[in-house]
Amino acid sequence: MSDQQWPADLGPVVCVVGARPNFMKMAPILRAFSAHRPALPTLLVHTGQHYDKDMNDRLFVDLRLPHPDINLEVGSATHAVQTAEVMKRFEPVLDTHRPSCVLVVGDVNSTLACALVCAKKEVPVVHVEAGLRSHDRAMPEEINRLLTDQLADRLYTTERSALANLTREGVAEERVCFAGNVMIDSLLSNRASAQQPEKTLQMAGVDPVVLDDPRGYGVVTLHRPSNVDRQETLAPLLAVLREVSEKLPLIFALHPRTRANIERFGLAELLHSQRIVLLPPQGYLEMLGLMAGAKLVLSDSGGLQEESTALGVPCLTIRENTERPITVEQGTNTLVGCDPQAIRKGVDEILSGAGKSGRIPEFWDGRAAERIAADLSAWLIARHAQRAG
Ligand code: UD1
Repeated sequence: MSDQQWPADLGPVVCVVGARPNFMKMAPILRAFSAHRPALPTLLVHTGQHYDKDMNDRLFVDLRLPHPDINLEVGSATHAVQTAEVMKRFEPVLDTHRPSCVLVVGDVNSTLACALVCAKKEVPVVHVEAGLRSHDRAMPEEINRLLTDQLADRLYTTERSALANLTREGVAEERVCFAGNVMIDSLLSNRASAQQPEKTLQMAGVDPVVLDDPRGYGVVTLHRPSNVDRQETLAPLLAVLREVSEKLPLIFALHPRTRANIERFGLAELLHSQRIVLLPPQGYLEMLGLMAGAKLVLSDSGGLQEESTALGVPCLTIRENTERPITVEQGTNTLVGCDPQAIRKGVDEILSGAGKSGRIPEFWDGRAAERIAADLSAWLIARHAQRAG
């Protein structure tokens, strides 16, 4: 704590969110910025990449995120159009508000689009969750991560392996700060308010009888284009989920992309089972409660790999690679790809009691946002003083 004042001529930190996985990262950052002394002034910009009640509004309420100061309302489109629209609409925000820096989180299209606008206008870019690499350039997020880190002036990492990735790509070490995982800040601060699974199912109009299975239940999410956009990949994945459900009931929260593709490919039949509960995208507190109570998580999400590690729940990741290796090395995560045999084997191991219990990685302690606030405030004030002098 310090009694230092925020310089009157130093603009706000423009904080950008766009899509669902950004919200749980930004909520603790905004709180830490306002609690820090001096408080960092902020302006919250939502690009509108996600906009549905389920994908957006419920999470804002659960995470106690303030209403965005500005919403660019870009909506859905191809990657090129979505990225370009964010850029076009974000540029005037910089002209009007003259920020001290722009803080972006994660790896969605909005993250890269805003970073790129800033770099061309010489506005410092701050990237939270920097340096993660799947080394798979077929993933749109990998492109977003690589480029955002090249453009960023201050980079905050969640695990130590990130620094080696950044160094290899020529990012100077003094720009990088190991702050820990803000997503886990959110998890820890909301853990006690997580909604009980029974209530979540009742609210969704589903009989909670699946929760009575003596083996427990599994939580499933799938949304990566590489898993859900082609019938040849999606159909066998759903078939193996159906098979798994005969051993362990599954609660499957369907992303809009996945729901649309299941309908388009005529695959709904595969999921017609009393042991598979299909839910719309869940709120943060509902999902937290479902995961905390689960026997296992089966998912292709980046965030769920980290959250299940923090909760000590075994996670089978339906991907060939991960940009979050610490969840495999120290946490509860196992990569199973989309090979049905590997998925079956992983599930059987967990059901036989041989699932990973893992340990909590360094700095996943609920204080990452506080560390970012302290470091960023000092960095911005020093930079400002240097430029003035
Ligand atoms: C985006 C991110 C991904 C993240 C995911 C979480 C990129 C490249 N991808 O993928 O990293 O893991 O968010 O969900 O930024 N849609 C709705 N309602 C919404 C938003 C989207 O129905 O509020 C539908 C639209 O049909 C849209 C599709 O979902 O075309 C995909 O949305 P989009 O934001 O393009 O990508 P996601 O797959 O959600």
